[in-house]
Amino acid sequence: MIVASTISVLREQVARHRRAGERIAFVPTMGSLHAGHLRLMSEARQRAPVVTASIYINPLQFSANEDFDAYPRTPEEDRVALESVGVDVLFMPGDREMYARSAAAVTRVEVPGLGDILCGAFRPGHFQGVATVVTRLFNLVQPDVAIFGKKDYQQLMVVRRMVEDLGMPVEIIGVETVRESDGLALSSRNRYLAASERALAPRLYKTLDGVRKRMLAGATPLGAETWAMEALRAAGFRPDYVSVRRQADLAPPEGADRGLVVLAAAWLGKTRLIDNLEFHLD
Ligand code: PAF
Repeated sequence: MIVASTISVLREQVARHRRAGERIAFVPTMGSLHAGHLRLMSEARQRAPVVTASIYINPLQFSANEDFDAYPRTPEEDRVALESVGVDVLFMPGDREMYARSAAAVTRVEVPGLGDILCGAFRPGHFQGVATVVTRLFNLVQPDVAIFGKKDYQQLMVVRRMVEDLGMPVEIIGVETVRESDGLALSSRNRYLAASERALAPRLYKTLDGVRKRMLAGATPLGAETWAMEALRAAGFRPDYVSVRRQADLAPPEGADRGLVVLAAAWLGKTRLIDNLEFHLD
């Protein structure tokens, strides 16, 4: 595996594979890798002979009161894990390499509508930061296909919309969430959970499944969401939101909509967990 910390080395590697006529798959990450990320790498491997990954903790997607400084950093373990699953090129830039300008001056990419609802309403600027760094990474790697986890469902939708609106020549693939045996979605932030919080955490997914069952039994979205907010509070969470949306565009569902997703964000102590569950009303 080639580890590129500079754009020039990354570009040389990309150019080498392009000259050989090889397709390139790309998996952007913020490191602190777990089995969910490795699942993305194996999906990438199935889609192209060359797999490129990046590890960069993007300051633009954290606001001042968030966990940028505390975000887990495990570069050596990550490098070994990526090498072991056969990643070809790993891009690990420093801040200067990624953003030549100060955060305030850097050119931004905005996805209005999708980027400011749900998590975007609770984390202003977050999806602008994601769209900006993903655009820059796509421009540097120029992948044919890029892989994102469905755990970050809204992020996947924001990236899809951005690629469509800006005519970026990259196919976006969403991969199913990897879960612990008790249902908890794998996340780098799970390592923040104290033992008592870890024991409670699977209730988030169980509550989403409760929403699904209620909707299948005829509940309204509002009825199911209200039940879920109460259930999470009673279990010891501080929910930001639980919301039933259309899979296609994350708009609130209308009567004829069948392909739905319930998304939630909820705090356990100092850890903010997100999760979602797709379902069909058939
Ligand atoms: O999902 C993530 O890890 C990040 O949001 C991403 C896509 C790597 C952009 O920083």
